[in-house]
Amino acid sequence: MKTAKTVDELRNEIKVFGENKTIGFAPTMGYLHEGHLSLIKRAKTENDIVVVSIFVNPTQFGPGEDFESYPRDFEKDAGLAEAAGADILFLPDAKEIYPVGSATIVEVEGPITKKLCGSSRPTHFKGVTTVVNILLNIVSPDKAYFGQKDAQQVAVIKKMIRGLHMQVAIVTCPIIREADGLALSSRNVGLKTEEREQAPVLSRALNIAKDLWISGENDVATLKTVIANEINTMPLADIDYVDILDYETLAGIEKIDAPALAAVAVRFGNTRLIDNIILE
Ligand code: PAF
Repeated sequence: MKTAKTVDELRNEIKVFGENKTIGFAPTMGYLHEGHLSLIKRAKTENDIVVVSIFVNPTQFGPGEDFESYPRDFEKDAGLAEAAGADILFLPDAKEIYPVGSATIVEVEGPITKKLCGSSRPTHFKGVTTVVNILLNIVSPDKAYFGQKDAQQVAVIKKMIRGLHMQVAIVTCPIIREADGLALSSRNVGLKTEEREQAPVLSRALNIAKDLWISGENDVATLKTVIANEINTMPLADIDYVDILDYETLAGIEKIDAPALAAVAVRFGNTRLIDNIILE
């Protein structure tokens, strides 16, 4: 695996592979876990070249959020990315992504970026779409791989791709979970012992709602109450949101009669976890 720190280095490394090669791209913020590795492995099966980026993007963290404390271990990440099949690791610093004087922002407007994570993190998706746009312009991949755990991020990025007529296919990969159901996340490392013990309540609550829906309950308010009640059985859980929305548009719904996304965000101490399940 080659490592590139600048845009020029990255483009040169891609050129070395020759012309007309398909490129699969997994953008990450590092501290890689099996969820990230599943994106890289999938990209390896579908492309000639796999590029992985690690960039803890400052613009998607709001004031007082965990940018400084976001876990980082670039050396370990490099070994993991290579073992999973990455051909090129792109490790830019902030000046490379946002050169002095850069003043271009890409923003998807409307409710899709305002609800769920957008309501407690109002500038988050602007940072995500800006950096993803920059990274896609640098790498020019045929396919870009994202995890279903960040379902809203995927919906927003797809809307940006359609809106800007960008030529890249977005591939969404399933959530990877611990044996007790906790969705893998780089932030899980911040959970204290008791918080970690209680954190599987997110997936448990979502699964209870799914079972209820399968058995015929399709009233969104009822299902949301069931999810919130289950999460509230854990004393350290502090709900940010519980919502059920149209899966495609993220529009609010009262009854589930098309694929829906049940999504939650819950704080345990300083750690904010998200999870979701598709009801389809
Ligand atoms: O999902 C993430 O890790 C980040 O939001 C992304 C897509 C790498 C952009 O910084």
